[in-house]
Amino acid sequence: MSLNRLTIEAFRNIDSAQLLPGTGLNLIYGQNGSGKTSILEAIYFLGMGRSFRSHLSQRVIQTDAGMLTVFAALSQDNGDGKIGFRRYRNGDTEVKIDGCKVRRLSVLAETLPIQVITPESFSLLFEGPKSRRQFIDWGAFHAEPHFYQAWVNTRRILKQRNQLLRDGADYQNIQFWDRELVRYAEQVTEIRKAYVDSLNELLKGIIGEFLPQVSVKVSFTRGWDSKTDLAQLLEDQYQRDLSMGHTVSGPHKADLRLRVGILPAQDALSRGQLKLLVCALRIAQGKLLKQQTDKNSIYLVDDLPSELDADHRRLLLKQLTDTGAQIFVTAIEPTAIVDSLHQAPSRVFHVEHGRVTQVE
Ligand SMILES: Nc1ncnc2c1ncn2[C@@H]1O[C@H](COP(=O)(O)OP(=O)(O)OP(=O)(O)O)[C@@H](O)[C@H]1O
Ligand SMILES: [Mg+2]
Repeated sequence: MSLNRLTIEAFRNIDSAQLLPGTGLNLIYGQNGSGKTSILEAIYFLGMGRSFRSHLSQRVIQTDAGMLTVFAALSQDNGDGKIGFRRYRNGDTEVKIDGCKVRRLSVLAETLPIQVITPESFSLLFEGPKSRRQFIDWGAFHAEPHFYQAWVNTRRILKQRNQLLRDGADYQNIQFWDRELVRYAEQVTEIRKAYVDSLNELLKGIIGEFLPQVSVKVSFTRGWDSKTDLAQLLEDQYQRDLSMGHTVSGPHKADLRLRVGILPAQDALSRGQLKLLVCALRIAQGKLLKQQTDKNSIYLVDDLPSELDADHRRLLLKQLTDTGAQIFVTAIEPTAIVDSLHQAPSRVFHVEHGRVTQVE
């Protein structure tokens, strides 16, 4: 899976750009504010239908423009494809895959799996469990076709249950929903757990290479005590849930625990080490996807050189290129990447004031 043509229009400071990326590593360089991150963001839109920076996707539309467009021609194992994404200022979105309109954004993710690593990726470790849960669920979604429906059902029932709690419903009225909730929660949890187990197999080797001097342990927590039966727990915690107005324990509290010894990783590692750990997680996730579905992810690595010394840059670039996937990396100075690569990049693009040119 790779993009062989990318067109971006009215996207942040990019008026109009066309890139012909190579199948391997694509280097995008330019000064601060030139538009490097915006190019990665545009590719991310194609796979996720939203930005990795702003929660308000409309802000991404170029000032004074009515809509943004991102279009890509893909080469896949099963032939060539096309993805088009358009977002209007009023929020309307048009997505087309091979010329056909698509309604669910999850279809985009299936067509174009994307791994993004940005200086803000630390949020995967620092912020609350939500971003770590999203990380697990991305993998579970791709690994197991039943996951999505079970996850949608779990969310729907939890929402209903929480509404009943706020309405002060007695337990008999809630119990009916709990039976359903437990059924889907168990499916979701089983898939998540199996996913983290498989991920750990791959992760060990990569972490061992990136951080040989520390022992990082990655484990899954389901969102309630693993020795307790969820149905029983929901019943036992009814009074507490009622007073809180929401369901305190359950699959919506699942998490990925990252520990060094007894400490949480974010307290035990330096910033560069944390960046490498996040990279290891993303690379392992991409590799596992390839094993499980034979699909290659597209890697977007923003400001790759920052916070890494030359040796670790080399290690990271080697791990990335060894995946065989298409990679887009940005840097201010091209030498910071080129000097750390074993072979020349597939393509090099220079960005200046939103204009993109390919450098020979
Ligand atoms: N909606 C918008 N319309 C027009 N320009 C915008 C819009 N949103 C952001 N910009 C501008 O786009 C430019 C490109 O930003 P971008 O983050 O892509 O730069 P960058 O090359 O990644 O810079 P850095 O090296 O500092 O990370 C910025 O100068 C920003 O002010
Ligand atoms: Mg940037």
